[in-house]
Amino acid sequence: MISWVSSDFEKLAIQPNDFLFLDPPYSNTEAGYNAYWQRDDDVRLYTWIQKATNKGAKVCVCGSLVHNGVSCRLLDLLAKDFNLHAIQCDYNKVSRVGDKQTQEVVMLSYKVSELGTEAVKVMPYNLVTA
Ligand SMILES: C[S@@+](CC[C@H](N)C(=O)[O-])C[C@H]1O[C@@H](n2cnc3c(N)ncnc32)[C@H](O)[C@@H]1O
Repeated sequence: MISWVSSDFEKLAIQPNDFLFLDPPYSNTEAGYNAYWQRDDDVRLYTWIQKATNKGAKVCVCGSLVHNGVSCRLLDLLAKDFNLHAIQCDYNKVSRVGDKQTQEVVMLSYKVSELGTEAVKVMPYNLVTA
């Protein structure tokens, strides 16, 4: 069943078998949707993700590990426990300035192989595994 809600992530009730795909604000970039997102929110989301994985949910988070020399607090925290996959992309095609260096990543609370080949086919990105 799919339901749509518009709320802060902390209001979502997580079930043990949930798969969570998270594309949170990139706190280390100048994107417009960061207006109401502080670096403390990265820590708040990290804590919430930890609770979700402890409950048994599988979590996939995407973001920019480093953007223009600035690291992302959330992804730095997740790097301790999550499996990191680099994504090859070129933001300069859409960047206003056009010369920024960005390392886009997908971070998983599980190994890709745990989901089976059918699930990998519908992953949102071509993962570049190290
Ligand atoms: C990187 S964008 C995601 C864009 C989305 N994947 C799309 O394609 O439209 C980050 C999103 O986080 C949302 N957001 C900001 N603060 C939030 C919060 N406290 N709880 C849940 N979502 C939030 C923003 O509204 C924004 O849409």
